Amino acid sequence: MKEQELRELQNTLSWPEKIGQLIQLSGDFFQSEALAVGPKQKLGIDQDTVNLVGSVLNLTGAEATNHIQENYLANSRHKVPLLFMADIIYGYRTIFPIPLGLGATWNPALIKQAYQVIAAESRSAGAHVTFAPMVDLVRDARWGRCLESTGEDPHLNADYAKVMVEGLQGENLEGIASCVKHFAAYGAAEAGREYNTVDMSERRLRQDYLTGYKAAIDAGCKLVMTSFNTYDGMPATGNDFLLKDILRKEWGFDGVIISDYAAIQELVAHGVAADEREATQLAIEATTDIDMKTSCYAKQLEPLIKDGMISSKLVDDAVWRVLKLKNNLGLFEDPYRGASKENEEMNLLSDKNRALSRKVAAESVVLLQNKNNVLPLTPNQDKILLVGPYGDKQDLIGLWAVHGKTTDVTTLKEVLEKKLTSESFKFTQGCDMLDDYSFLGEFGATAEQIDSIGLSESQRESALAEALKLGEVADVIIFAMGEHTMQSGEAGSRTDITLPKIQQDFMNQMIELGKKKILISISGRPLVYTKEVNQMDAILQAWFPGTEGANAIVDLLFGDTNPSGRLSMSFPHNVGQLPIYYNEFKTGRPLTSKTHKGRFISKYLDSPNQPLFPFGYGLSYSEVLYNNLKLSSSEMTEKLIATISISNQSDRDCLETVQLYIQDVTGSVVRPVKELKKYKKVSLKAKETKTVSFELAREDLYYYKRDMSFNVESGAFIVFVGPNSEEVLESQFELI
Ligand code: NOJ
Repeated sequence: MKEQELRELQNTLSWPEKIGQLIQLSGDFFQSEALAVGPKQKLGIDQDTVNLVGSVLNLTGAEATNHIQENYLANSRHKVPLLFMADIIYGYRTIFPIPLGLGATWNPALIKQAYQVIAAESRSAGAHVTFAPMVDLVRDARWGRCLESTGEDPHLNADYAKVMVEGLQGENLEGIASCVKHFAAYGAAEAGREYNTVDMSERRLRQDYLTGYKAAIDAGCKLVMTSFNTYDGMPATGNDFLLKDILRKEWGFDGVIISDYAAIQELVAHGVAADEREATQLAIEATTDIDMKTSCYAKQLEPLIKDGMISSKLVDDAVWRVLKLKNNLGLFEDPYRGASKENEEMNLLSDKNRALSRKVAAESVVLLQNKNNVLPLTPNQDKILLVGPYGDKQDLIGLWAVHGKTTDVTTLKEVLEKKLTSESFKFTQGCDMLDDYSFLGEFGATAEQIDSIGLSESQRESALAEALKLGEVADVIIFAMGEHTMQSGEAGSRTDITLPKIQQDFMNQMIELGKKKILISISGRPLVYTKEVNQMDAILQAWFPGTEGANAIVDLLFGDTNPSGRLSMSFPHNVGQLPIYYNEFKTGRPLTSKTHKGRFISKYLDSPNQPLFPFGYGLSYSEVLYNNLKLSSSEMTEKLIATISISNQSDRDCLETVQLYIQDVTGSVVRPVKELKKYKKVSLKAKETKTVSFELAREDLYYYKRDMSFNVESGAFIVFVGPNSEEVLESQFELI
């Protein structure tokens, strides 16, 4: 529709019709009037309001969305189509690894392909908008939503944000619209506790936390979701500084801002609004366009206009942004956008999509340890025993694969059974996932359901006995262990991020058998593996690896694929170190202090400062040597080239992620000890040597200076290049 026509259409809308465009309700409101009675009562709204609502939350499937759209349009006076928005975070039906795993690929080009697949599947299933990417920078593994983030680094996060948006939307929105979230800084919730306060300097906000959102906006992202947290005392949904000053004015974002779930109403609980009327006023004044899942806008906007408390222009502007989005998506011409059963059949879980998911999963797994090269294994050489709660579990897709199906997943046991003879492979679960499942009550499980989950006391005993018996005759024991799906993701904050005790106890008994031990770790966050690094020969961090996860893991176990994943989030030694991140600020008394000794330096008395596994870390089956770091000049005015030689010592091909960090030695404010600026994932043939070069430009060194301008001062810079953030070669240059 031409813009002029759209304007004219908007002018024909009544206030209730306009306000309807600013309300989002969940699918149950639209399924049938009878079914919607409960939800309507809960919100205190009537069917007339529902009939005018402009968007639907988390209802997908072509049959359902087409049916609802058809009914809606048939009964609507204005004929403005519904928008279907959904949480399609790392896969619609073909599930990819959780974003923390995607982060570990260090391969944005590959991740773009994954998001193209996600868009095509979603579109055929009737989704118009996805609430992705989530680009909240994370430094505290206690927070369950680390799962959804690509990690702790502003630069890497921004790279992923860009390709995810590009992959989802396509060049001309032929995919689905992307909604970046959660604006802003949700990942810094204090103490890693869900929905908690965020408070930080503007400098840190801009330098570290905003880069991901900004990259998404620059890539043309159509929507932004506000976060639940406060920033500088004001919840994001009513935060003028974040939404108006930065997002709208500074970044020029004129797309749709949607509140997170009930976040407008929560302004009351936060104590910045006395009631829903005030909450509505704060939110609309901050230019929050859509109210997700409350009746605040439905009930309060019109009276606020009538009483002269808000300008009607605020509402008109918000409506305009929503109509524009619908128009950009082409909904006025085709309200179904190609959603159909046939397209679903063609797209969902196709062999091609599965193959890509397997490739991405293989690149996401991080080999954390491999003592004496216990890996890769040789098929049918050793007797392998697979144990652990994830050994035969289809639940490898993680909590936020809302539309995925665990039944699509092949388990590790199934894959290994296919690959190996029955003499050389055995499986027994050996131990339960958790000591106690009662926390599932908080996620809606009844007492009866909780009782029926897991093993009974006697089953636990016999499971252990069986594992010990089979372990006696095995050469290698593979432990498929980790967190329960419900222990990470939204509302999955934890203060103890070690393996569940029942799994640890089991492991302690099994290692007494003295066999080779391999841990496959399934988790939505970095876990504390301080004990396991001593107990295990090899550790593969596999995250929730997605639909094809088990195939990818087995490819890695046997060396059909050489591991190449690198951590995008540090693994701590213990929870007391959190938040921990490689790009910390310099202190006046670092470990290397020349002026202070003993206890009076910045350190713990009972723990190392460093993480157990640092940012950027990951092994492969190939030893790669780094030599000869050279800078094209010892001075930089505009540009400089850094080169390094990398040499594959092994007889297998590998993928090596070469990382370049800098340190601004003296700045007008304190600067980080290291900052990632460049990286390349390079393929090396067996025994091959390559020279890798990076161009470093003046702008790469920019930061928010003391006066908050984004620039750089002349002076000394250190360049570090290596396979991770700790093992680096270094050189120095002077910025002129
Ligand atoms: C709440 C979550 O914080 C957000 O990420 C999600 O998109 C919405 N719920 C909608 O389900």
